[in-house]
Amino acid sequence: MAHGLIYEGVSPEPMAFSGGSAAQSTVLHAFDEFLGICHREDSAAFLRRMREYMPPAHRAFVEEIHGAVSLRQLVLSSGDTRLRAAFNLCVSALVDFRSCHITLVTKYIAAAAAKAKARRAEPNAGAGPSAGKPPSALEAKGTGGSHIFSFLKSIRDTTREGMISA
Ligand code: HEM
Repeated sequence: MAHGLIYEGVSPEPMAFSGGSAAQSTVLHAFDEFLGICHREDSAAFLRRMREYMPPAHRAFVEEIHGAVSLRQLVLSSGDTRLRAAFNLCVSALVDFRSCHITLVTKYIAAAAAKAKARRAEPNAGAGPSAGKPPSALEAKGTGGSHIFSFLKSIRDTTREGMISA
């Protein structure tokens, strides 16, 4: 539905919305802003769009952190090695979370989809409730419409780049 959908009784103009996604949750956006993580433009654009689905006060909270004094700059300018190590530990916990999440998505989306495809290819697989094929354009897309693996790996990698080197 490239042009959206007409919601009768709401608006005569077609409207387009993303599906629900955990990328609309405030907490990881808040951590990214707090730690000064900069995602690559296409991933950042997706995440920015997801912010439009947050409750306004949550979005305002994330923007408040974005506008505040940079923690990263403070740590850098302090020259304190213990502070830098603590900061890097926080960034690496976020990297670990995102790696673990990629494993989950691989198991429950990529491997599950491959299994379903193999089942469909079996002889006698023509009938039954699972016979209908999902549109292939959706195969590599998340519920929020992201290109799943390139998006998730890109934001994991840019999180890692957020570490402060010695
Ligand atoms: C079977 C389990 C899961 C699947 C299949 C899954 C799938 C996905 C997909 C496809 C995305 C990409 C965005 C989109 O297009 O919607 C995403 C993003 C995200 N998911 Fe999950 N997810 C799972 C579990 C979880 C859990 C347990 C958490 C949190 C505890 C979580 C938190 C997030 C967050 C925060 C994002 C935004 C990207 C980021 O900031 O790292 N997900 N997920």
